[in-house]
Amino acid sequence: MRRRIVAGNWKMNTTHSEAMELVEGLKANLTEDIVGETGVIIAPPALFLNDVVESLVENEFIAVAAQNCHHEESGAFTGEISAPMLASLDLDAVIIGHSERRQYFGETNADCKVKIGQALNNELAAIYCIGETLEERKSGQFMEVILKQCAEGLEGFIAEDMDNIILAYEPVWAIGTGEVASPEQAQDVHAGIRTWLAERFDSETAENVTVLYGGSCKPGNAADLFAKKDIDGGLIGGASLSADDFTAIIAARTNA
Ligand code: PGA
Repeated sequence: MRRRIVAGNWKMNTTHSEAMELVEGLKANLTEDIVGETGVIIAPPALFLNDVVESLVENEFIAVAAQNCHHEESGAFTGEISAPMLASLDLDAVIIGHSERRQYFGETNADCKVKIGQALNNELAAIYCIGETLEERKSGQFMEVILKQCAEGLEGFIAEDMDNIILAYEPVWAIGTGEVASPEQAQDVHAGIRTWLAERFDSETAENVTVLYGGSCKPGNAADLFAKKDIDGGLIGGASLSADDFTAIIAARTNA
């Protein structure tokens, strides 16, 4: 079901006490008026997920996601975290294929496909990240890159699976750089993704998949991005580390 969503990816930031403080700040800020129909998701570091979930037991607004999971169920993979482990903490979702995972940890579209399968098998929604590098944008071939990420990462999934897969378009050149895609640039890509979804699945699925924008989305530019018809919300990095900024972005989504 297509939803308005604002998700915060905290990445490798916050100590335990800072994480809990940030959650408390969000709990205090988020009222029915601000949240409205917007789905709010936070993705703290894995180490703090359990405490964050516990502190949100009574909170009706904030869902919790992990930033990554391993592609196997269990086994001899020292230091890794599996989807069943995440599910056992009552998480709601997991981010898959973030460009930093692709860039620094060599994750491929094929890896992402297996991880998305792990997420779905364990009743976690998958937030699948796609997006081109600056070189790919400049080459003019960026849509091919993005659609290849879609095709290979979603290979084998059927229309019903898309109920539990959220797409996040995050141009790599806009992540953490302060350089944001213009609303028109983002809208064009989102529309292209939806056209692809209609061809790959069907038009109803294309209409129903939630497609988020990510990359230097801030309180000052969120409303213009969210006003575009194919941009359903945002995956927020830097600005999700401030309870007030993240709240302002949620409000922008609710009011757009
Ligand atoms: P940013 O990160 O908002 O700091 O650019 C976005 C992301 O990587 O999800």
